[in-house]
Amino acid sequence: MHNIILDCDPGHDDAVAIILAGQKKYFNVLGITTTSGNQTIEKTSRNALSIVEYLDLDIPVAKGASEPLIREVEVCEAIHGESGLDGFEFKPLKRSFDSRHAINFIIDTLLNSKEKVTLVATGPLTNFALALKLNPSIRNKIDRIILMGGSYQMGNVSPASEFNILCDPEAAFIVVNSKLPIYMITLDVTRKVLCYNSYIEQIAKINNKASHLFVNLMQVFNKNQKEVFGYDGAPLHDPVTIASLIDENLVTFKHVNTEIDLSHGCSYGRTNCDIFDYLKKEKNTYVSIDINVEMFFKIIEEAIKSYK
Ligand code: RIB
Ligand code: CA
Repeated sequence: MHNIILDCDPGHDDAVAIILAGQKKYFNVLGITTTSGNQTIEKTSRNALSIVEYLDLDIPVAKGASEPLIREVEVCEAIHGESGLDGFEFKPLKRSFDSRHAINFIIDTLLNSKEKVTLVATGPLTNFALALKLNPSIRNKIDRIILMGGSYQMGNVSPASEFNILCDPEAAFIVVNSKLPIYMITLDVTRKVLCYNSYIEQIAKINNKASHLFVNLMQVFNKNQKEVFGYDGAPLHDPVTIASLIDENLVTFKHVNTEIDLSHGCSYGRTNCDIFDYLKKEKNTYVSIDINVEMFFKIIEEAIKSYK
């Protein structure tokens, strides 16, 4: 059983991460916190609370950072649409957000936890960076940080940089240099788990509330990813974080030094992962280098089937 806090910017693939995290046999989700990223904080927060309410999950949701530390907010409408979760209409919200800002929610929850907690990030790292700076003592309650972000090959919003990191490179710098165990699920691996239409059709046969959400979201996600990147199946970036906790053999990691490029040139926001240890610097991250694709999609299918 993993105690987790999931920080996210729903976002189609963030929604699938929430579906996986909602499985009580694997996770004690202490909370879901939100950040701007795929859309504005208002939209990502509404989306997160809507998903939790729709799936009837007993998980508090706290709204977080509306802006990165230094950069301006940049949303990703081309992929996630005007709502941030185009493709599925939720009923009007009945639930409310936790009254605390996400950063205070994260700090309170960690300090009150009797056991260590795994922090999972599937969006920009602003909330976790600010929580670590506001109250460094939370480090003693953090088992590890697993984040979807970065790439040791090419980026997806610039030649050099991946979206979550480039949204807030300074926050990523704080997290990567926190000296906590940092596990990075990078594009190098998430571009291997492409959600083809044949898989969507397979999931549609499950015919429950989770499969309806998955199918409707993935149809839009696939259409947008095809238009923008030419992919025949959308890369399911974010759920790899949660899936890697469900089966520790799913993802292969390599312990390397990662530097976040904070220069304001064409590589701003790049994760320079020293995969071959050229520079012999201190190893500060576990970077994903491979994934068992078949196992990943079985984990997703099992999660969706677990909803009545
Ligand atoms: O680069 C992929 C990441 O950016 C994913 O987390 C996706 O949801 C977007 O936030
Ligand atoms: Ca995301």
